[in-house]
Order: sequence, then structure tokens, then C-alpha cells
Amino acid sequence: MENKYRKDFPFFKAIDENNSKHNNGLIYFDTAATAQRPYLVLDAMSHFYATANANPLRGLYSLSERATFAYEDARSTVAKFINANDNSEIIFTRNTTESLNLIAYSYGVNNLKEGDEICISIMEHHSNIIPWQMVCGFTGAKLVYLECDKQTGEISDEEISKKITKKTKIVSCVHVSNVLGITNPIKKLSKAAHDVGAIMIVDGAQSSPHFKIDVQDLDADFFALSGHKLCGPMGIGALYGKKELLESMPPFLRGGEMIEYVTRETATWAEVPHKFEAGTVSAGDAVGMAAAMRYLNNVGFDKIQEHDLILTKRLMDGMKSIPHVKFVGSDDPSKRCGIVTFTIDGVHPHDIASLLSEEKIAIRAGHHCAQPLQQYLQINASARASLYFYNTEAEIDIFLDKLSQLRKWSGYKD
Ligand code: ALA
Repeated sequence: MENKYRKDFPFFKAIDENNSKHNNGLIYFDTAATAQRPYLVLDAMSHFYATANANPLRGLYSLSERATFAYEDARSTVAKFINANDNSEIIFTRNTTESLNLIAYSYGVNNLKEGDEICISIMEHHSNIIPWQMVCGFTGAKLVYLECDKQTGEISDEEISKKITKKTKIVSCVHVSNVLGITNPIKKLSKAAHDVGAIMIVDGAQSSPHFKIDVQDLDADFFALSGHKLCGPMGIGALYGKKELLESMPPFLRGGEMIEYVTRETATWAEVPHKFEAGTVSAGDAVGMAAAMRYLNNVGFDKIQEHDLILTKRLMDGMKSIPHVKFVGSDDPSKRCGIVTFTIDGVHPHDIASLLSEEKIAIRAGHHCAQPLQQYLQINASARASLYFYNTEAEIDIFLDKLSQLRKWSGYKD
């Protein structure tokens, strides 16, 4: 099957046209760590710096106004991308991690107290664990974990009703797990959270690249995403928050255009979203992320999901026929969102990744920033191949061929 999207990406175009000369002819199966970027993202950023490079929100001259316009236009693209009600509900941050820290410091520390509970899932990325440990340390609140089925990764209705109680003040859950690939039941969790008066936070770092996000339909109070996971630049992300919540929260970082008025002793704050955007904003990156979002919308999330599934099925079907390969999480390709985590008996995941690297295949191995999940599943480490619409069936076949030889290369007879 020809992949018409690869020519949109300098990384793949160079590989395809020059075969192994560029980027070592790499097979890139690490999109869950960071996606590749199309030309038009790079072009949008360079156009911004070439034609609108002034400090946005500050200057009273037309170049600065152009910068402000480009920045606010990017905000509007993000708002539409996730169906926010209003542009002011979008705060630009560096990434999902910073967004979650913003909520923890600004909302968590100020609203929780001893006896309260924060409910997260056992499959969270460290970025959605450590900030809550910090809030618990400051406030005396308790961290409660929703556990999942060890085989399928599913969180049951019983677990939700057992763990989300009147004590719960915050529910924070990953939409798509970066290890299991499973999509969590966010609407159910939102309802359970709201029924007990808690807020619902969604880590959308892995879901936003793969399917259409509708924050209003999810009824999320906060939704965090990262630009670099969805073909945008590194160092830019977005936090959606319901406006009344954002308005009730104090700033996270202070300085720059986030103020209304400053005296020697005091300061008052700008309206949202600017209250949460201290210092010179990363406008060129915001413009790049907006270009990536428009690009994904043009590809179409129906096509992305269709392609994800074809590739994931081919990959997992092939892996099922290789002895000693074990999936971490569900063996159903439709439940993996292109994220296939696995182990091979007797071969350390770091060795799997290193041996594949010698064969010009890039995958991730280790703890995947999810050590509590690995402790729960009683594995020390795992390997992960993560796919996207720019990957091909031919790449999968090469990967399977190499994978089938890994034990032999490691000194085993079978
Ligand atoms: N969170 C990223 C990953 O899963 C870095 O690889």
C-alpha cells in the first residue's frame, strides 16, 4: 500500500527518495515519544519568524500586532481542534507535563485539604502522578489509584464506583495510555467525578494525535496536550480549562504580560488566558502547533484511525506468530491506538531496542515514564513500537522479520 503522506514529511521524503543515505534509512516506530513534523509546520514557523517576529501582546507597532494576531489565531485553531467553547479557555504551555503542573500548583494546592482524595489511574505517566504526590504532600490529601485489568488494561465500572467517592476532589486520568495503548472511559469518569463534586482532568498527550477530541462531549474540566506528539514543534502544548475554573484560580508563574496592574507591594492579574501565560510567549511554536493541527484535520481523523488499525493489526498478528513475544496489555489491535508494548522472554527490553537500532529501527524501551504501572504488572521494563499514519506495511514486515531473529541474536536456539 502506497503511503501518500510520507512526502509531506522531510524526514520520510529524504529516506524514501534516497533510500538508506538519509537518517540511516530509519524505520521510525517511536511516535508515542515524539512524532515527525511535516514541511508545512516548519514553513509556518519560519514564515512567522520571517514576517511577524516581534514580541506579541506588547508592541504598539504593526509588526508586533502581526505577531499578536498570529499567536491569537493559533489559540483559535487549538480551541477548534478540541471543540472548546471559547478561545480564552486555551492556555499555551510548554507541554502536557507543564499543564498538569499548572493545575496541581494553582488548583490543587489551593483547594485541597486533609481528608480529601485525588483519584488517578495506575497507568498514568509520571507527569500525572508526581504533581499529585506534591499536592498531597502540601495539603495532606490522599492519592488513590484506579487499578486496571492486568491483561486487558480496562478500568471496570466497579473500580470507578469504589474509588471515586465523596472524599474525591480531583480525578485525573490519561485518555490513552502511553504503555497499554488503551483508551480510558473518560465520559464515565467525568460523570463519576462530577456526581461527587470533583473536577475531571484529562491527560490527552497520546489521544490528541489519534482521534478527534471534543472536550465538551468528554465534559472535561481540564484537558492537556503536547504539540510535539501531534506533528507540531517541541516545547509547546496547550491546556484547556473551563472558563469559570480558570477565572477562580491564581496564576501559576508570575511576570510579563500576565498582570493587570503592579504596585510596589501588590499586583492584579490579566484576564484568562493571559493570567496563565507569564513571560514572552512561544508564539512561533504556537503557530507551528496550529499548523500541525490543521494538517491532521486535513488528513482526517477517520483516515488516521483507519491507518492506525491496519498497521497495528498487521504488526500484532505478526508478533503473535513469533514465539516468546508477549504483549503488555490487550492483544486486540483495535484497543491499542498504534501503541504496541511487549517483552521477549530472556531478552532485556534495552537489548531489544539496541539490537533493533543496529537494524535501523527506532523503538522505545525501558519504564516509559510509568513505573507504578510496571510495578503493578510486575515487569521491570518493556519495549514499545508506536505507529502513526506515516508508517507503512513494508516497514512492519521488516520489523517482524528482525524481531523474529532477536532471540537467535541473543544466543538462544529457539
Ligand atoms: N511520554 C513519552 C513516551 O511515552 C515520552 O515515550
